[in-house]
Amino acid sequence: MVTSVVGVQWGDEGKGRIVDYLAQNSEVVVRYQGGDNAGHTVENDYGKFALHIVPSGIFNRDAINMIGAGCVVNFQTLERELKGIPAELAENLFIDIRSHVIFPFHKDLDGAEESSKSEKDKIGTTKCGIGPCYSDKVSRIGLRSGDLLLSDELLEAKLRKLLDRKNKELAIYGMNTYSVEDMFALCRDWRGKFGSKIKDCLPILREKVGQDKRILLEGQLGIMRDIDWGIYPYCTSSSTTVGGACALSGIPFSRISKVVGVCKAYTTSVGGGPFVSELHDDIALKLRDKGHEYGATTGRPRRCGWADAVAVSYSCYLNSVTDLALTKLDILDDFDEIKVAVAYKVDGKTIDYLPSVQEQERAECVYKVFKGWKSDTSKVRKWDDLPENAKVFVKEFEKLAGVPVTYVSVGPERDQLIVL
Ligand code: GDP
Ligand code: IMO
Ligand code: MG
Repeated sequence: MVTSVVGVQWGDEGKGRIVDYLAQNSEVVVRYQGGDNAGHTVENDYGKFALHIVPSGIFNRDAINMIGAGCVVNFQTLERELKGIPAELAENLFIDIRSHVIFPFHKDLDGAEESSKSEKDKIGTTKCGIGPCYSDKVSRIGLRSGDLLLSDELLEAKLRKLLDRKNKELAIYGMNTYSVEDMFALCRDWRGKFGSKIKDCLPILREKVGQDKRILLEGQLGIMRDIDWGIYPYCTSSSTTVGGACALSGIPFSRISKVVGVCKAYTTSVGGGPFVSELHDDIALKLRDKGHEYGATTGRPRRCGWADAVAVSYSCYLNSVTDLALTKLDILDDFDEIKVAVAYKVDGKTIDYLPSVQEQERAECVYKVFKGWKSDTSKVRKWDDLPENAKVFVKEFEKLAGVPVTYVSVGPERDQLIVL
């Protein structure tokens, strides 16, 4: 049985927290796209972690965790991250040979490309080199993790070709270039440290799929920042959808039986681009303050606003979401009233679907208003024990999204969850 976990908003929905919970019952967990731009926070008996590249299933010692074929891997980040995790947990961590390698020059180019844009045009990337690395992948010049295992001669030849092109790009921005020797030394260092973990993960996956074992696919970012369906160009450089999960992990689509859409009870976004339900008032400050809404990777304050059912139902459709995991309900505990965007007004017309990115930029929300419940939900573990107004909010939310809510999260820790 394969379960895919996707974010249905702008990222930071609590995917790490939900994957950590679901991973307890999984044999394999695969991060299928993105790189160390992720900040997936997990709180459990081992402590509190902000995972950037390691899959959030790492805390199940019996599970195999994979950095999948569709990922881009910064081995420096991986090394740093693994130092903070008990060594025995990392024994079953593998990196697919098809994933691409992020080099220091990818980060330089990410920064330079951003700096060359006007304030309005900035994507606000994490500057982790994600876009430049995926660009090399689709340009068919990138280095894959499996290439680190090649003979010195072949590896050096690949690096030479890559650097020939990259150094020209760096020169355009007036940046320092890189020598083949230095990058070769870096690759050899990574080969020595991670060589035994880099493998073709497909045979393991095929075997587990054949045995109908529980497999979990972990998405990075949310649908609104998907390369095709998100707010292009203010998006990331890979597919965050369940379609992407199949293509980028190596799981046939027909084997996915459950798609968990992770959704905050309000909305946040880091970086540029439209965010129709964004607030600029005291409510936004309160959401940011109570929800500790600061980027787990860059520390940037997250933009905050009410939940947006127009965007969520769009995401649920695109991903065929079967179950919603509604997170951070507890953050709304002391609001007098809570709003959810149910439609947009664009150029005087009311619409209930997600319009073009340009139209989103000038759209305004039409809200449905809910009464607050004004009591602490963080200790609630059963649906029946939730305050009446909170139940109304959740039940109405699932109607607006068109998908049942199966999990309600009322705190960051693993057990702070109501399973319906
Ligand atoms: P991800 O990128 O989707 O994994 O989400 P992040 O980890 O970036 O952001 C979610 C933040 O909310 C983290 O700090 C989590 O610890 C925290 N969190 C997750 N679920 C809940 C919840 O139900 N209540 C509260 N109070 N915090 C939560
Ligand atoms: P998780 O996995 C929130 C945003 C950046 C930027 C855009 C592109 O924790 O949800 P990139 O570095 O990918 O080229 O940036 O996407 N972004 C995120 N926002 N959470 C993340 O990860 C993000 N990863 C990238 O702010 O607007
Ligand atoms: Mg995050």
